[in-house]
Amino acid sequence: MSLKNLSADSQFKVVLEAPFTDQKPGTSGLRKSTKHFQQPHYLESFVEAIFQTLHGLEDGVLVLGGDGRFGNRNGIDVIIRMAAAHGVRKVITTVDGILSTPAASHLIRTKKAVGGIILSASHNSGGPDGDFGVKVNGPNGGPASESLTDAIYAKTQILDSYQIINHDSISLELPAKYEVGGMIVEVIDGIEDYIALMQKIFDFDRIKSFLKDDFLIAFDALNAVTGPYAKRLLEDFFGAPTGTVRNGIPLEDFGGCHPDPNLTYAKDLADLLLNGSEYSFGAACDGDGDRNMILGRNCFVNPSDSLAVLTANANCVPAYSGGLLGVARSMPTSSAVDVVAKDLDISCFETPTGWKFFGNLLDSGQITLCGEESFGTGSNHVREKDGLWAVLFWLQILAHKKCSVEELMHKHWDHFGRHYYSRHDYESIASDIAQNLYETVELRLPSLIGNSFAGRQVTTADNFTYTDPVDHSITARQGLRILLDDGSRVILRLSGTGTKGATLRVYLESYVSSQGDLTQNPQNALSQLITSIDSFAEISNRTGMSRPTVIT
Ligand code: G6P
Ligand code: ZN
Repeated sequence: MSLKNLSADSQFKVVLEAPFTDQKPGTSGLRKSTKHFQQPHYLESFVEAIFQTLHGLEDGVLVLGGDGRFGNRNGIDVIIRMAAAHGVRKVITTVDGILSTPAASHLIRTKKAVGGIILSASHNSGGPDGDFGVKVNGPNGGPASESLTDAIYAKTQILDSYQIINHDSISLELPAKYEVGGMIVEVIDGIEDYIALMQKIFDFDRIKSFLKDDFLIAFDALNAVTGPYAKRLLEDFFGAPTGTVRNGIPLEDFGGCHPDPNLTYAKDLADLLLNGSEYSFGAACDGDGDRNMILGRNCFVNPSDSLAVLTANANCVPAYSGGLLGVARSMPTSSAVDVVAKDLDISCFETPTGWKFFGNLLDSGQITLCGEESFGTGSNHVREKDGLWAVLFWLQILAHKKCSVEELMHKHWDHFGRHYYSRHDYESIASDIAQNLYETVELRLPSLIGNSFAGRQVTTADNFTYTDPVDHSITARQGLRILLDDGSRVILRLSGTGTKGATLRVYLESYVSSQGDLTQNPQNALSQLITSIDSFAEISNRTGMSRPTVIT
């Protein structure tokens, strides 16, 4: 590849009138409306704070890309110009700036980068009227730790200027190498390395021949980042018919889709699979490709169950056939995987919500698989959750067992029992109302202990605190828990990823052993818990909402 030098570059300092005081990263990076990000110097301020905080950047390699949403291209230009001003040795970015979160995690690891910047607001809508976001990943390929994001935030609070160079925009049309202000920018195909990694984990030939046997699948990329990855995998490698990947071209506004793979936002796919269908398997991923939803014919797999099924059947996958080191789930995720871990005699960890909390467990070799109720599953192959990896994992199991999704689920419950589970979201509540509700419930929790709730006894009622088993750091106030004597649980959390008002999440779980009724509708099985938490937390009273906005 020849090195192309585009123009003479001059470095300069831009002085801020005042620092931005609202750049606190949430569960997954800094996320705001696109309009908010369009304020002059807003993006630059956050990036300057990253560059002043991330270790080893000077003279190091930085991975850069995004999910293709509105603002992606401009963000890449700005970050390249700022990276050159900060003495970064090399920026690796991708054709069209398209890079899924798991693929970015893999690149950071294989290219020995000091970290990565992923431009995405994940599962939030995109476009001029949608959201934009900046995620920072560390050298292990995982989301920045709390201490790093806290340090970045502290820096934004006192920032008075940023450094940037003048430079024309480089072309991202094809792989190429450029020199920008003394720094190398390498544009690579963002998909190849990821596919090669998947080939190491799964038996592609087996999946391919299984799909040939009239096993019709549909994948919905929701016009976000996974389209090109899924086309290459499912249509090119496995020979699935053209059109298997729906909404497969990344668009700046996701073509109006809300790229959140759940029954509400991936409704077309859900309708296709759940209303008596010719398709045997359906899946969707979110904006940046780390979340997944799995569907069978007339069968929705809840993400907590998905983690349990992957754990129980990991021996079907070449990379995991030697056994699992251990597993982990976030606190609000159902305990379905705990039961499997017990059966396999491996450890099971309970972490706060947020993928970053799995990082130490993965890095220290204590777990192989992990997952969250928020449609995230992953393994030690990268340090992010990985939507397409989960899809391949499911296909590999089905190819091995030669059964339908529904049969697999029923066999699983027959053996391990069933954790009926649902999450009720109340979106866009006025922040003060949500805060007040949450604080009131927290104050009332001690009064519950030992008393009855939904016809059961309350054994624990508290705000979850996590002590990291590796570095012993303590993370407090991670969600209100009401634990009941029959193993049922109700959890309340305020979302850390929304941009409009507040979102209250109510997580409901109830266990039925393999001898019990395993065929109930989850909303019915959980109805007592639903009624009790509504009256205890005064949800409909305080929010004025008679039902949740999203039920998964
Ligand atoms: C992001 C993180 C996940 C986390 C989720 C929680 O997707 O990557 O690890 O589970 O946010 O979102 P919430 O809106 O519930 O804070
Ligand atoms: Zn995501």
